[in-house]
Amino acid sequence: MDAAVTAATFDLPRWSGERLARVEQALSDWVAADAPAGLGEAMRYAVLDGGKRLRPLLVLAAAESVQGNAQAALRAACAVELIHAYSLVHDDMPCMDNDVLRRGKPTVHVQFGQARALLAGDALQALAFELLAPADEGIPATVQATLCRLLAQSAGCQGMAGGQAIDLASVARSLTEDELRRMHRLKTGALLQASVMMGAACGAPDDRARRALSAYGAALGLAFQVVDDILDVTADSQTLGKTAGKDAQQDKPTYVSLLGLERSREHARELLAQALEALDDSGLADVRALRALARMVVEREN
Ligand code: IPE
Ligand code: IPE
Ligand code: MG
Ligand code: MG
Ligand code: MG
Repeated sequence: MDAAVTAATFDLPRWSGERLARVEQALSDWVAADAPAGLGEAMRYAVLDGGKRLRPLLVLAAAESVQGNAQAALRAACAVELIHAYSLVHDDMPCMDNDVLRRGKPTVHVQFGQARALLAGDALQALAFELLAPADEGIPATVQATLCRLLAQSAGCQGMAGGQAIDLASVARSLTEDELRRMHRLKTGALLQASVMMGAACGAPDDRARRALSAYGAALGLAFQVVDDILDVTADSQTLGKTAGKDAQQDKPTYVSLLGLERSREHARELLAQALEALDDSGLADVRALRALARMVVEREN
């Protein structure tokens, strides 16, 4: 099938609408309100009613591309979103980016205080791993272990947490392009790439497909943060649902500060081309959702 025609005829809103409904319901079921002392309320506030849910969609698209186990994929999709939500709660705290607006609402620490925000993040992280290891659903133990390993690696010191440490250590410093790329790959790219690989781990792709999905996830993950840097400059707070202009205000090195807007945009387009090219080499029968999601990452307005 011709790739352009395929991409043009694929109905992403319809494809994602059905899956988002499932993800929202599962998140609402699994993030219980009854945690002690208002913790459940803060956790639900952090996770529900907001966010593009890009990571869950990537998990599900990758899992479908390899005909993976649907129940494992739904759990993986929610687990990744919980880690992401936790990372946002902590990222917004006064000791990090000190933000007051997230997903169009006051940030968790503004709403519930810093101690509860910290604990909500901790508890969401633990819950993510709990979701990946259910006792009684027939998901093979090796699949559960692989999902836990992929998520742990991408969230930990060689992934998101490591990248966040570099981010904070880089305030008011100018990084080389190599250093900036490494920071972005860790703080944001790792979890996005892991989303793709966790979806893949719900099935049994051959080496060629696995390599292609890994390359796709890496390119898309970096593109995502390049676009986040661009939108921080070009979009307004209402559209973003978070405070615009924060990076310059806090003197953070970004793709825009290093390359300028035009070259950053060009770079995002190059990364999109790399992601799509990787899919062309995958040997997988149906990668339309993955293609459409990559385009969405680069063409999005929030
Ligand atoms: C924002 O991520 C934080 C970064 C990793 C740059 P998203 O733009 O995916 O945030 P939500 O989930 O849609 O709110
Ligand atoms: C955050 O990057 C990445 C995370 C791990 C949460 P940013 O600090 O740029 O994210 P925003 O712009 O606040 O969403
Ligand atoms: Mg930050
Ligand atoms: Mg931030
Ligand atoms: Mg940002």
